[in-house]
Amino acid sequence: MSHVLHRNLNQKYPTAVKGDGPYIVDREGRRYLDASGGAAVSCLGHSDEAVAQAIKDQVSQLAYAHTSFFTSDPMEQLADFLIERAPAGLDAVYFVSGGSEAVEAALKLARQYFVEIGQPQRKHLIARRQSYHGNTLGALATGGNAWRRQQFEPLLINVSHVSPCYAYRDQQPDETPEAMGIRLAAELEAEILRLGAENVMAFVAEPVVGATLGASPRYRATSDASARSVIATACC
Ligand SMILES: Cc1ncc(COP(=O)(O)O)c(C=O)c1O
Repeated sequence: MSHVLHRNLNQKYPTAVKGDGPYIVDREGRRYLDASGGAAVSCLGHSDEAVAQAIKDQVSQLAYAHTSFFTSDPMEQLADFLIERAPAGLDAVYFVSGGSEAVEAALKLARQYFVEIGQPQRKHLIARRQSYHGNTLGALATGGNAWRRQQFEPLLINVSHVSPCYAYRDQQPDETPEAMGIRLAAELEAEILRLGAENVMAFVAEPVVGATLGASPRYRATSDASARSVIATACC
């Protein structure tokens, strides 16, 4: 009997023993094509030799130094790498362990920023229906996925949810992608004005919708509506 509290108590899981590029191999030798890179996080493939070697080298040298007291060369180098590729205006990286923690940290950063610049009344968050931002309480409250929120509702901070950018279901028959974008931007603006712009702390949105939309076809805006190209975003 397993002592692991598995995600589904009624399911018997295969034992994963090995990674091989895009495949996960179980104890019986069955190979599973990991087409979404796990929860979209194994984007470098499984058991890549160069990645494994880099991990081994670093662990042999130093596995952990608390960031309250130290910086380290790998952390500085990764931050430089990311910022070189980031949009203008982003010049610092805060490292965390995963997506939910990143959202929690971003919410707290936004709040702390406004407290420190003397605008402590800013506490309202706006996000989108159907979005997923993680499982911790702040991230769950931010997300608009009704099914995931339902039983935890009394524990969640108050967040306004506006319409998602979901062309497959919400684009009107006579609406261009540009017009749909403007309609959604107007809805967001109306919510900011309803709350009072001076009270809003942050708008949180997934640039590419992830876990809760599955594979969502969306239209890329072009000057010629008849030449729309469909981008299928397949997510975890
Ligand atoms: C857009 C988005 N934000 C946050 C998360 C939460 O990340 P994690 O599972 O690493 O906590 C996910 C996970 O799927 C996600 O898709």
